[in-house]
Amino acid sequence: MVTYPICRWQGFTLDFQEQFYYHPNAMRTDDIRSQLTSQFFGREIYYRDIIPSTNIFAKTLLQNGTGEGAVVITDNQTDGHGRSNRKWYSEPLKNLTFSVIVQPTIAPERLGGVSLYAGLSVAEAIEEVASLRPICKWPNDILLNGKKVSGILSEAVFEYNQLKGVVIGVGINVNQRAFPAEVQSTATSLALETNLEYDRDALLSSVLMHMERNYKFVQSGRMEKIFETWKQYTTMFGQIISVHQTENSITGIAARLDEDGGLILLTSNGEQKILAGDITV
Ligand code: BTN
Repeated sequence: MVTYPICRWQGFTLDFQEQFYYHPNAMRTDDIRSQLTSQFFGREIYYRDIIPSTNIFAKTLLQNGTGEGAVVITDNQTDGHGRSNRKWYSEPLKNLTFSVIVQPTIAPERLGGVSLYAGLSVAEAIEEVASLRPICKWPNDILLNGKKVSGILSEAVFEYNQLKGVVIGVGINVNQRAFPAEVQSTATSLALETNLEYDRDALLSSVLMHMERNYKFVQSGRMEKIFETWKQYTTMFGQIISVHQTENSITGIAARLDEDGGLILLTSNGEQKILAGDITV
């Protein structure tokens, strides 16, 4: 990793590995703001050049009263995590790793729909910025050519049994071209798919704009509008799929989404509603 000199404290010049504050490719809140087309999402931006996980930071902000629309973003996430405690690898300065705070007025049993809402917004942004048609894989992966370009981890925060908000953590592989062996065969990026480099500020702005536009359906309880559009980005319906959960796997035909965003599978035992799991087609 390149070491960049930083001189942030009263004339001291410090050499810190993994400090990107003055790196020419680092994101800057001013640049992000100048590209932002959303009004509400991104009105507060917390940029950190290095941070273990934007989701953890955003959850602390939410617990301490930071409100809806705030965004935490980093150029170097050192301990990013995904569902089922998997690691999220992201090369510093190449990708988007960020978290958005939302406070939907939604019943806890409908929270699954928030992941689909976020996935749809990311898919729309990728389509807009890179002119590629991504596939949404239930519940929260975005694929290009069968490989994962983006993952979403939505985490609900409760206070005194009341939903305080949801932190939507988004990782998008943008300009990274090589991946660790563990995910090499399953991960891709916009740059790998198109052989082009992308402006991360512009992509972030597009995601936030789509999140803002789709959010009115979340807030007005019209999640079916989100699900209708989400279905246009998926290919799994009518196919035989297996859903792998911690303890077991269920196989059946992917039939439809229910009103909570759960997946209805037609199995040999009749219809089964799936709320979580990893699917293979
Ligand atoms: C998954 O694929 O299971 C979800 C991956 C989510 C990764 C993002 S990167 C930004 C945010 N911070 C985290 O620690 N995780 C999410």
